[in-house]
Amino acid sequence: MTEPCTLLIFGATGNLATHKLLPALYHIEAAGRLDSGSRILGFGRRDWSDAHWQDRVRDALSGRLGERLDEQSLGRLLSRMRFISGDLEQPEDFARLAERLSSDEDLPDNLMSYLAVAPKHYGDIADQLAAKGLNGQARGWSRLVVEKPFGFDLESASILDQRLRRCFSEDQIYRIDHYLGKSTVQNILVFRFANLILEPLWNRNYIDHVQISHAEARGIEERAGFYDGVGAMRDMIQSHLLQMLTLVAMEPPPSLDAEALRDEKVKVLRSIRPIPREAVHGQAFRAQYGPGRSGETTLAGYRDEPGVAHNSTTETYAALKLYIDNWRWRNVPFYVRTGKRLGKTNSLIAIRFKHPPQQLFRSTAIEQLKPNWLLLNIQPNECMRIEIQVKQPGLEMRAQTERLDASSCTLPPEHIDAYEALILDIIEGDHTHFLRYDEVNWAWRVVDPVLKLWATERDFIHSYPAGSWGPVEASRLFDREDQDWRNEM
Ligand SMILES: NC(=O)c1ccc[n+]([C@@H]2O[C@H](COP(=O)([O-])OP(=O)(O)OC[C@H]3O[C@@H](n4cnc5c(N)ncnc54)[C@H](OP(=O)(O)O)[C@@H]3O)[C@@H](O)[C@H]2O)c1
Repeated sequence: MTEPCTLLIFGATGNLATHKLLPALYHIEAAGRLDSGSRILGFGRRDWSDAHWQDRVRDALSGRLGERLDEQSLGRLLSRMRFISGDLEQPEDFARLAERLSSDEDLPDNLMSYLAVAPKHYGDIADQLAAKGLNGQARGWSRLVVEKPFGFDLESASILDQRLRRCFSEDQIYRIDHYLGKSTVQNILVFRFANLILEPLWNRNYIDHVQISHAEARGIEERAGFYDGVGAMRDMIQSHLLQMLTLVAMEPPPSLDAEALRDEKVKVLRSIRPIPREAVHGQAFRAQYGPGRSGETTLAGYRDEPGVAHNSTTETYAALKLYIDNWRWRNVPFYVRTGKRLGKTNSLIAIRFKHPPQQLFRSTAIEQLKPNWLLLNIQPNECMRIEIQVKQPGLEMRAQTERLDASSCTLPPEHIDAYEALILDIIEGDHTHFLRYDEVNWAWRVVDPVLKLWATERDFIHSYPAGSWGPVEASRLFDREDQDWRNEM
């Protein structure tokens, strides 16, 4: 059971609140993990009563969870929900908010302020909360939850950080990367550091290269306003994919303490070889989806999506080849890639091992040995698999690939999202799965040179058919012909 707190959601009517936070809160409620005194206070522009918001939440959760919705749990959740109307741009509305928080005895003093609003509001909200005395310890703890994107580039991230830090200390700020709440992502740590057999292999002597991919079948849908001008590198690689890379590559931390873990992640990011301007085309690739098909359905190209500029060069596909200059990983390429409108929605970490040093089977029917792969599928199915070579039954000396599955592949795609775990962590004051500012800063340093060059090259961008696995030209990032993208398990 957690401490009682008031979970204040700025942007309570928005997409993130409706599709992620409310279902997560419902699941936490159903699991009996919320203190009976905790309350959820929505802040939004609509002139809604508590009862009206409760009705909207009921509708949203019924639509999403259908028959899986348990009336008793829903009833308990709704009884916690309050609404206060206010405009983020009106300081007097923050004064009313502060007044309600202090006068309404039903609202616990501990305050979690969740910024589920556009990033341009983050600084103002922090200022206003501080101006109204809602950032201190006077009433209980006060924690600020910030969603990605954290800045638009290195410079803007630093400006935003300085602004937030004027009002909240680092240990009050929880920068969410919801990938870090996924159990398979957390499992990378368990897998690596609870199994001794892997450690001797986990280095440049045995690993040929690492691929970290996040593919989405969806296009940008109605989100052109957010996406156009931002692109895949900022949206996915700077945040989620570099975080996954740190977990794959980090050294064992001295403890599982949040700071110890984050120290090791930062060391990885700091060790990534900077990409000089002249190397950008050799190490980075971008493209945009054109018209295509998925089965019988015709799919629009990116520039034909509603709200996208007809000459936009925003990348919907981005790939990077990175090197980590430390003893463990020197000269092992790490390929990170993401794209929208690809063949299938899937996130995969694929680790390819080197060939054995001696081609012992060259004179047999085994013409060419396939390499070993270790595959960690992050979503939609959480899976873990090792591919090894075994002899085919029969008289001939032939090999076939066998799969060792240590996975939960058979479980249905997750109904529980990462947000449940992360919200509980915040209530418990655990920073382990949140980004410290130096992580954000070093991640921006990795991608900034690429973004800067791309920003000057606005005449041309490669294209790929919507529904395909991306542009063939992206394979040029690989060093050898026997290497290529691994799309699925
Ligand atoms: N959606 C996701 O899955 C997702 C995932 C990761 C990160 N994020 C991040 O989460 C944040 C929110 O994203 P979103 O998709 O939920 O955006 P959204 O659907 O556009 O929601 C924005 C919310 O902000 C409110 N708002 C805007 N201006 C306001 C004002 N002046 N006063 C009071 N409320 C105001 C809106 O209220 P009205 O209803 O009154 O307009 C709405 O509730 C963004 O930073 C985004 O990058 C979102």
